Amino acid sequence: MERNNITVSAPGKLMLLGEHAVVYGHPCLVTAVDQRMKATVELVDSSTFELEAPDVKVHNYKKSLPELGKGEIPKGAQFVEIAIKNFKEKYPFKDGVRVATASEFSSQFGFGSSSASTVCVVKALSELTRKKLSNKELFDIAYKTVLDIQGKGSGFDIASAIWGGTLYFVTGGEKIEQLSVDNLPLVVGYSGIKADTVTLMDQVLRKAKETPEVVENSYREIHLLVEKVNVQLLKQNWKELGELMNENQKLLNMLGVSIPKLDDMIAASIRAGAYGAKLSGAGGGDCMIAIVSPNKEQEVKKAIGSVGGTIIPVSPNAPGARIEK
Ligand code: PMV
Repeated sequence: MERNNITVSAPGKLMLLGEHAVVYGHPCLVTAVDQRMKATVELVDSSTFELEAPDVKVHNYKKSLPELGKGEIPKGAQFVEIAIKNFKEKYPFKDGVRVATASEFSSQFGFGSSSASTVCVVKALSELTRKKLSNKELFDIAYKTVLDIQGKGSGFDIASAIWGGTLYFVTGGEKIEQLSVDNLPLVVGYSGIKADTVTLMDQVLRKAKETPEVVENSYREIHLLVEKVNVQLLKQNWKELGELMNENQKLLNMLGVSIPKLDDMIAASIRAGAYGAKLSGAGGGDCMIAIVSPNKEQEVKKAIGSVGGTIIPVSPNAPGARIEK
């Protein structure tokens, strides 16, 4: 019998290096984390889309298929709804769709819950409709979904949710290379402040209009750092990698996207012996990451806590999107 429901999971992500510059044609490095988003997707006879997404406070959301993408869409339903609309337009099928999502991580962390749920839904539909899309085809639909909603973005989070592991990624998936990184000694601290990626991207755009040479130069420097870290990652040279992260943080400060709370957490971790630290993602809040040798790990965690950060226990390099049942 043909199956009409499936559960797919996809990992959250952490930007290691290259944020903001990656929106404008430069590379970044991203690792998938072992906290996952899950979506159970069911094809139904009725001509409706239904969504239950308790983590983002969406309950009993229901809409007729011809209305997909139209009218007011609650924030927590946007990505799933537009993903289904885009999938149906590219790979038509007649059924309605019922989706239930559940996340192992808070949508506040900036781990990419929207992108991960988009990827889960697109992969589930690809299986249920027997299209068996390639990773690149999944990427294209999920990335279009991000652009339809946000207007801009590199797609690094979508790639991370699909491929998993640690990726060297260039804007729009122009290059997606899986790096063999067995071990990455990361400590992750959450600032307690929710950042809005689009607001931060707009802020950087405004700065680029005011001082184009400063911003362009920062992007070029960030690009060089990403290339250097790419080499040091493979060599597992954590000390060098930490110093390059510190350089990246200085450039992010120049772009104006760090905030005092993140700066305090970063400084505290370095004082406690981290090789290096930086914010991860758009800035304005969310998380910071530090590269730390095992013998300093406890001290660094304590130091981040002492300035009001919360340690999020995650392992990097997690597997990409997969069918759970
Ligand atoms: O806010 P996050 O964790 O989704 O990271 C955004 C990173 C940016 O480079 C600013 C945007 C992007 O799409 O690459």
